[in-house]
Amino acid sequence: MMTIDPLRWGGALALCFAYLGLCAGLWRMHLAKMRPIGAAADWLVVYASQTGSAEFLAERTAATLGLGGLDARAACISTLDASTLAGASRILFICSTYGEGDAPDAAARFATQTMGAAPDLSHLHFGMLALGDATYANYCGFGRALDAWMREHGATGLFERIDVDRGAPAALAQWQHHLSHLAGTSDAPDWEAPAYGAWRIAGRTLLNPGSAGAPLYRLALMPDDGVLPMWEAGDLAQVSAPADPAHPREYSIASVPGEGELALFVRLQQREDGTPGAASGWLCTGALETDTVLLRVRAHARFRLGENAIRPLIAIGNGSGLAGLRALLKARIDDGMHANWLLFGERNAAHDHLCRGELEEWRDSGALARLDLAFSRDGAAERYVQHLVLAQARLLRQWVQDGAAIYICGSLQGMAGGVHDALAEVLGQHMVDAMLADGRYRRDVY
Ligand SMILES: Cc1cc2nc3c(=O)[nH]c(=O)nc-3n(C[C@H](O)[C@H](O)[C@H](O)COP(=O)(O)OP(=O)(O)OC[C@H]3O[C@@H](n4cnc5c(N)ncnc54)[C@H](O)[C@@H]3O)c2cc1C
Ligand SMILES: Cc1cc2nc3c(=O)[nH]c(=O)nc-3n(C[C@H](O)[C@H](O)[C@H](O)COP(=O)(O)O)c2cc1C
Repeated sequence: MMTIDPLRWGGALALCFAYLGLCAGLWRMHLAKMRPIGAAADWLVVYASQTGSAEFLAERTAATLGLGGLDARAACISTLDASTLAGASRILFICSTYGEGDAPDAAARFATQTMGAAPDLSHLHFGMLALGDATYANYCGFGRALDAWMREHGATGLFERIDVDRGAPAALAQWQHHLSHLAGTSDAPDWEAPAYGAWRIAGRTLLNPGSAGAPLYRLALMPDDGVLPMWEAGDLAQVSAPADPAHPREYSIASVPGEGELALFVRLQQREDGTPGAASGWLCTGALETDTVLLRVRAHARFRLGENAIRPLIAIGNGSGLAGLRALLKARIDDGMHANWLLFGERNAAHDHLCRGELEEWRDSGALARLDLAFSRDGAAERYVQHLVLAQARLLRQWVQDGAAIYICGSLQGMAGGVHDALAEVLGQHMVDAMLADGRYRRDVY
């Protein structure tokens, strides 16, 4: 006869309630962020951001307007559509540019659907802060395109568009000057980025000895004061290298705080003239254990698990992209979430089987439900991670139908585009666009 153990049932019920509570909390967070922006606030501060700079500036912009008593709200461009444009009267845009002059992922739907139409915007006043990097051919491409589109359809610029080259302080000061004018305040607070901390390299391991590709190192870093800052899986570390302190380099954090160190996977870059990259050369070979590494942690909201924490996870990437994916997987495994699938590509199994022991241990213990690897230089035909996506089409569709989120980390050139096309083939372009817009498909590609 079946016996009922009240303790086990009580425990199971408590677990169910805790799980439902977590789901409800995450859903509320999601609704609050994705609430249509409507015309509720007098001033909308709309950001199109990939790695968070535009979002950070939008929040500060809204706060500065608020100081002057204006009703202002920051909102992601993914929540802006033709009807919200029709209902709004004043919008400040802060837009970054990605890929090769493209809109950030969260702006993809706005850029194709809303900007593909020709609404009358003559009731609208707007300002534009375009973030970019002047070393790219299409400097501030998306900000410029949106600025031109607004004017073309009758909207009135409150002032000339401001282009910001790699966070240039003078351009940001100009934007703040306009804000003070709009808000009628002269005491706008300083917007300086957080200060760097002093760190030291506690360990440096070559992850791919004998590789035909450039060396990839795992760096373990510890803050000088011994107190690790908080971060979440998906976040970035910015390093200021002695050879180029004005232009910090971003690295995906490969560890979670519970591991007691901040790990990076850094590829040693070689420039065309054979000299090592300013930051990667220093981190991988130049810096001694006694040298101070200036580092700050940067929240990367669009690559965190966020409301996807309760979904199955499909992690796809290549090369140093394993850093971001490894942190996400580790965070989930620590939380007891085992519906994880990693599809990963590198060159040769003999030399580039990165983190092999750990990944196989996760797979064998069931913490990683699936592990699919593509080694492009091993077989007769080149096989990349996008080929794994196509080969596993049926299973991938099933995971997505079951609610899975997709996270991509690694090379923009080759990998991200190839995987994106493969996903469109497997899931349909419409589904991929919808997942991109609602945050179920997230990318950290560079
Ligand atoms: C969101 C994000 C996450 C990232 N995550 C990682 C990561 O996890 N791991 C990782 O390894 N990298 C990562 N990167 C890339 C990283 O930020 C750096 O771009 C990379 O390390 C190269 O920087 P560097 O200073 O070593 O090279 P640089 O000195 O900047 O040189 C890089 C390239 O620029 C060109 N170049 C620049 N200056 C010159 C010059 N004077 N002469 C000739 N050529 C020049 C060359 O093509 C060279 O190969 C990430 C980037 C982003 C944006
Ligand atoms: C992979 C990648 C591609 C980029 N492409 C462009 C580009 O084509 N044009 C440009 O002006 N800036 C480009 N940038 C620079 C970003 O727009 C700039 O760093 C911006 O400040 C990022 O803001 P965000 O953190 O809000 O996304 C690129 C940056 C990265 C990492």
